[in-house]
Amino acid sequence: MNVLVTGGAGYIGSHTCVELLESGYGVVVIDNLCNSNPKSLDRVRELTGKDFKFYEGDVRDGELLRKIFAENEIGCVIHFAGLKAVGESVAQPWRYYDNNLNSTLVLTKVMEEVGMKNLIFSSSATVYSGDNEMPLRETSKTGSCTNPYGWTKYMTEQILSGMAVADKEWGIVLLRYFNPIGAHISGRIGEDPRGIPNNLMPYITQVAVGRREKLSVFGDDYDTPDGTGVRDYIHVVDLAKGHVAAVKYVAAHSGCEVFNLGTGCGYSVLDMVRTFQEVNEVPVPYQIVDRRPGDLATCYADPAKSAEVLGWKAEKSLADMCRDSWRWQSQNPKGFGE
Ligand code: NAD
Ligand code: UD1
Repeated sequence: MNVLVTGGAGYIGSHTCVELLESGYGVVVIDNLCNSNPKSLDRVRELTGKDFKFYEGDVRDGELLRKIFAENEIGCVIHFAGLKAVGESVAQPWRYYDNNLNSTLVLTKVMEEVGMKNLIFSSSATVYSGDNEMPLRETSKTGSCTNPYGWTKYMTEQILSGMAVADKEWGIVLLRYFNPIGAHISGRIGEDPRGIPNNLMPYITQVAVGRREKLSVFGDDYDTPDGTGVRDYIHVVDLAKGHVAAVKYVAAHSGCEVFNLGTGCGYSVLDMVRTFQEVNEVPVPYQIVDRRPGDLATCYADPAKSAEVLGWKAEKSLADMCRDSWRWQSQNPKGFGE
C-alpha cells in the first residue's frame, strides 16, 4: 500500500518515511519546503535503499493533489504539513490559520472526491487545557489554547471529527504528540530548525556544538521537583513507529479516534541538561531566567490507550534521545544546510 505523506521532508515526516519504507509501505511525499530541505528525502532514500516520488508543492493546491491521486494508488494519507512555531503564530495569525486549516480542508475535499478516506493527522498535546490533572488522557479537557498555532490543531480536530460523524466511510486518527526529540540512529536525518530554536532540545544541541553561548532555563520556581518545567519527551523514531501503527489501525477501522503519543514519563529542564552532558560528555552552559509566558509547570501523557488499541509503546530512553540528538547535531553542525 502507498501512503501519501504531506510535509514528508520535515522533521517528523522524514523519520516516518523511513519507518514506513522499512515496514514495506510505498511512500509518496508532497512538501512545499517552506520549513525543510529536500536533502532530507535523499537521505531517507540512502538510509532505506528505496526510492519514492516527491511532489514539490502546496497541500492547499487542489489541482496538484488531484494529479497526485491520479498518478498514484494511495491507500492512506498522513498529514504532517503545517506551520508549527508558537511565537510566529502569535505574530502572524492569518498565515497560520490559512496554512494549517486550508491545507486540511483542501486535502480532505480531494480525498472525498477520489473516495480515499483514511487519514492520520498530526495533532499536539497543546490542545489540552492548562487546568487538567496529570497524566493527560485522551478524555482530558481540551480547548482554551493560548496561541493561534494551538487553535489550528484544536479546530482541525473539530473539523475532522465532525466529518467522521457525518460520513461513516471516513477512518481518521488524531495523534496528539507530546515533545518529540532525538534523531535517526544513523545521524543522517534530524531536526533542522530555521533561526533561533524555540524548543529545548535543538537549543541544547546548538549550545553544545558552539553555535549559541548558553541555554536560558525558563524559570526555576515551578511546583516541580527541581523547580524547572517538566515535559514528556519522546524519541522521534518511536513517534514515527506510532504512525505505522496508526496506518494499520485506520485500514481496519472507520470513525475518528484520538491517541496520545508520549512515554508517560516527565523530565525537567535540568534533567535534560544533566542527561545530555553525561551521555555525550559535552558541556551545556546555562543560566536561569524568567519564566516564558504561556508555559505550564508540568505536562505528560497517559499512553495507555495507544498501547491497548494501537499496540504501540515508546521504547527508547532519555539517554537514547540525548545521544541521538547529539549525533545528528555534531555530524551536521549546520543541519542540512552545508
Ligand atoms: P516541520 O516543519 O519539520 O515539518 C512540516 C513540513 O510541512 C515541512 O517540511 C514544511 O515545509 C511542510 N509544509 C508546511 N506547510 C505546507 C503546505 N501548506 N504544503 C506543503 N508542505 C507544507 O515540522 P515537524 O516537527 O515535522 O511537525 C510535523 C507536524 O507535527 C506539524 O503539523 C506540527 O504542527 C505537528 N507537531 C509537531 C510537534 C513538534 O514538536 N515537532 C509537536 C506536536 C505536533
Ligand atoms: C512548545 C509549545 C507547544 C508545542 C511544543 C512542541 C510554547 C509555549 N509551547 O511546548 O505549543 O506543542 O513546543 O513543539 O512554546 N525551555 C527552556 N529554555 C529554552 C526552551 C525551552 O527552559 O530555551 C523549557 C520550557 O520552559 C519547557 C521545556 O523547556 O519547560 C520544553 O520547552 P519546549 O521544547 O519549547 O516545549 P513545550 O514548552 O512543551
